[in-house]
Amino acid sequence: MSERPASQQGVDPGPERPGPVEIRRLSYPDLPQVTAIERRVFPTPWSLAMFVLELSKQSGICLAAVSGERLLGYLICSRYDTVWHVMNVAVDAGQQRRGLASALLGELYQQVGDPHARFTLEVRPSNHVAIHLYERDGFRAAGMRRRYYQDNGEDALVMWRTPATLEGSFDDVPNPRPV
Ligand SMILES: CC(C)(COP(=O)(O)OP(=O)(O)OC[C@H]1O[C@@H](n2cnc3c(N)ncnc32)[C@H](O)[C@@H]1OP(=O)(O)O)[C@@H](O)C(=O)NCCC(=O)NCCS
Repeated sequence: MSERPASQQGVDPGPERPGPVEIRRLSYPDLPQVTAIERRVFPTPWSLAMFVLELSKQSGICLAAVSGERLLGYLICSRYDTVWHVMNVAVDAGQQRRGLASALLGELYQQVGDPHARFTLEVRPSNHVAIHLYERDGFRAAGMRRRYYQDNGEDALVMWRTPATLEGSFDDVPNPRPV
């Protein structure tokens, strides 16, 4: 991982963005913009209360990608015991494919700052863009949660990024299952 600030990690400013992109901590005043993006990019958006709950957790890491006052994307990660659970990553429509999600994830790994850290997440098997992003970052599919998504009954793919998955094995992944 680069030692440069995430705001300089190869993020293309893009034509819609006047200023440089900064990755900083997500905070309560960001939430109106968060819920607006959430509604634009997800079929079943999180409620405001869900974001408030995540921001209230002392052990979590919540990040914002901003250009000036404008929120472009965000990442919510909770810590459960020794495992970091990436709960939500989103980049606004029109701001995607410019490296923002990669920069948010890169900043997460840097802030966790532990080479032994294990990260996990759930993703819809139909979300090829997100799966591609996570695989590029060292996450590997290690199981399914049946009928996880309530809107359409879709299964969830469970992915892990651990010291082992980064080396090509599942040795430190709990109960890995072929998918
Ligand atoms: C998934 C998402 C967060 C990616 O954000 P992003 O800022 O566009 O991602 P990046 O620009 O960092 O892209 C990183 C990689 O993701 C993949 N990717 C991103 N957009 C892609 C697209 N439209 N088609 C194919 N791959 C894509 C590529 O591997 C890309 O790397 P590359 O550009 O070098 O090929 C964004 O598309 C999004 O918000 N989608 C809606 C919400 C969502 O599905 N969140 C994830 C829930 S698990």
